Amino acid sequence: MALIEIRNLKIHYPIRSGFWNRVTDHVLAVDGVNFDIEEGETYGLIGESGSGKSTIGKAIVGLEPVTSGQIIYKGKDITKAKNRKALQYNKDVQMIFQDSLSSLNPRKRIEDIIAEPIRNFQRLSATEERKRVQELLDIVGMPSDALYKYPHEFSGGQRQRIGVARAVATNPKLIVADEPVSALDLSVQAQVLNFMKRIQEQYNISYLFISHDLGVVKHMCRAMAIMHRGRFVEIGTREDIYTDPKHIYTKRLLAAIPEVKPGDRDAHVAHRKAIEKEFTEEENRYYDKNGRVYDLQRVSDTHQAALPELADGGEA
Ligand SMILES: Nc1ncnc2c1ncn2[C@@H]1O[C@H](COP(=O)(O)OP(=O)(O)OP(=O)(O)O)[C@@H](O)[C@H]1O
Ligand SMILES: [Mg+2]
Repeated sequence: MALIEIRNLKIHYPIRSGFWNRVTDHVLAVDGVNFDIEEGETYGLIGESGSGKSTIGKAIVGLEPVTSGQIIYKGKDITKAKNRKALQYNKDVQMIFQDSLSSLNPRKRIEDIIAEPIRNFQRLSATEERKRVQELLDIVGMPSDALYKYPHEFSGGQRQRIGVARAVATNPKLIVADEPVSALDLSVQAQVLNFMKRIQEQYNISYLFISHDLGVVKHMCRAMAIMHRGRFVEIGTREDIYTDPKHIYTKRLLAAIPEVKPGDRDAHVAHRKAIEKEFTEEENRYYDKNGRVYDLQRVSDTHQAALPELADGGEA
């Protein structure tokens, strides 16, 4: 059974304009998405800037009011604040942010930063609390003298570890990780991803892993959704997406992953050019006349893609 189910989620922001500041239109930041996050697994959410990824993440942790749709956790719709409270949802679901410098309070010491979520949900003595914080620092591979330091005294990779320690502090079931490694260089990315995986196995945590880069999520996610313009263009298992992409937008994201093996580079460049050509010639076919992503169609039991109806364009 899924840990959390997202049903027809929509988040629309009003656009106000004119002298009366009336609502004249809406940004359809998220416009009808459905997916499940399984227990102990990582679900990937991938798409370009502005596609609506963070908005979904924030709605799941309860930071963003939804326009319509449901987020079902333990049988209850947690888009309603009273259900979040009844389930202690804010303890079970935590978030890690992309920009660790602005998400960690610069005036607080690491000890207080990590202890804060614990204080919200548990009454521990000062000694117990310090022991727990030290334990958490140890889990993310940080020395215990980090306790007394401030966020600016650490590197980006170390701060991301501290962010993870804070997210793990309440023994959550789900962590929404919004671009957790995008600001880090490649070798540090790998380290952070590795210990996120290790923690997942140890504590059976689920992740919603948000990224704009299909290269980064490849080894993290068993299932994933590719997002564009507030809608899902394709969902499937890792194999479905990486070996058999159906939507031109997915193909393009895949072609953008750099090829590291020198011998394969020429073939990769040729492939990328072919995809670009297909994209310029055929892009319109993959979106309706208003530029909207089509509804998802079944490709297989695990795989769906937003392809036009066969009637108006044939096999995609
Ligand atoms: N509070 C808000 N009011 C109005 N529009 C908003 C608000 N928050 C987000 N948006 C708009 O909603 C859309 C989706 O934003 P979102 O932050 O979810 O994108 P994203 O996929 O996370 O992008 P990025 O990769 O840059 O973080 C964007 O067009 C954005 O401008
Ligand atoms: Mg974002």
